[in-house]
Amino acid sequence: MEFIDLKRQYQYLKQDIDKNIDDVINSTGFILGDKVEQFETELADFVNRKYAITCSDGTAALQLIYMAYGIGAGDVVFCPDMTFIASIEPACLLGATPVFCDIEKDSYNIDPDSLERQINYVIEEGKLRPRAIVAVDFLGNPADFSRLRQIAEKYQLLLIEDAAQGMGASYRGAKCCSCSEIAATSFFPSKPLGCYGDGGAVFTDDENIDKIIRSLRVHGKGKTKYDNVRIGINSRLDAIQAAVLLPKLHVLEEEIAKRQKIARTYSENLGQYLKCPVINKECISAYAQYVVVAESEEQRTTILETLKENCIPTILYYPTPMHLLPVFEGNETYGEKFENAVWYSKQSFGIPFSPYISEEEQMLVIKMIQSVFVK
Ligand SMILES: Cc1ncc(COP(=O)(O)O)c(C=O)c1O
Repeated sequence: MEFIDLKRQYQYLKQDIDKNIDDVINSTGFILGDKVEQFETELADFVNRKYAITCSDGTAALQLIYMAYGIGAGDVVFCPDMTFIASIEPACLLGATPVFCDIEKDSYNIDPDSLERQINYVIEEGKLRPRAIVAVDFLGNPADFSRLRQIAEKYQLLLIEDAAQGMGASYRGAKCCSCSEIAATSFFPSKPLGCYGDGGAVFTDDENIDKIIRSLRVHGKGKTKYDNVRIGINSRLDAIQAAVLLPKLHVLEEEIAKRQKIARTYSENLGQYLKCPVINKECISAYAQYVVVAESEEQRTTILETLKENCIPTILYYPTPMHLLPVFEGNETYGEKFENAVWYSKQSFGIPFSPYISEEEQMLVIKMIQSVFVK
């Protein structure tokens, strides 16, 4: 059994994907070009934003955002303690300081109360300038954007949506990638909209930011590539990736609907034994991963061993909260205990999930987990 079944998805879309790849090879336009432009237009429409700017990967998308807004030394970026390092890594690279916030016990997204506490500590200390919040749609579950927007406005911070895991999800009718001033996503193969390599995109409604990011992704180009007006990076999407992404985008809504059904089956059958995902009111999760939380670390170990013995793949997503990563050792935590992030990291695990998992496979996963509880 695959953890995420990309082979079946390819079989389903093979004709379109193969034809598109052929077109690119025959055109010999391998970087940016027509297919990328078509994908950007359709993608912007899909999430209801004016501009989608594709780039080399999700980390670069976040870097382009931090660069476009001039975030750097002396600035603080507030980040959930439970995420992938890429949410904050490019800001650190540019000299900014990360300040981590605990997560909510139900949604596993940034806890707005912890965020506001951390903002006030930074203001009181007076050494650094609060600049931005990076809110992650963790596991595909939209963050609490209503409260986050209020906090961003109150403290005049840039609210960045890291929707690397949230493509296809929605918050109160708004598609993820359109829930804040600016957003980033990733097309890493296992993401809800994944390509066959690396890829990413930035989303904005601001014409000026769109122009800056288009310049930044091609070495800070001006009117041409050799008329550079700023220091940028090389971060473009390959045409072959756009060729793969277009057919996948066309079935994304259909896949999101399937994800809801599969998640419901897991929750109905496992909810009495394990903590199953809690989706915020009026939200639809993209279920980038289906993660459950055991009652204890020991119980998790027993379940993981049982699943392994039965060749069922699992993943710890993620095993270490940001504040405990060696790279952030010694960073100021302002007394925050990160109780929820630590609890989540010790007791959670992901189980096989994709729109293409078969009923038999899903039932086997359920049966094996239940066998730990019902002797
Ligand atoms: C929350 C989050 N942010 C950013 C990224 C970075 O995306 P990429 O791997 O495409 O650079 C990822 C990908 O794993 C992610 O999960």
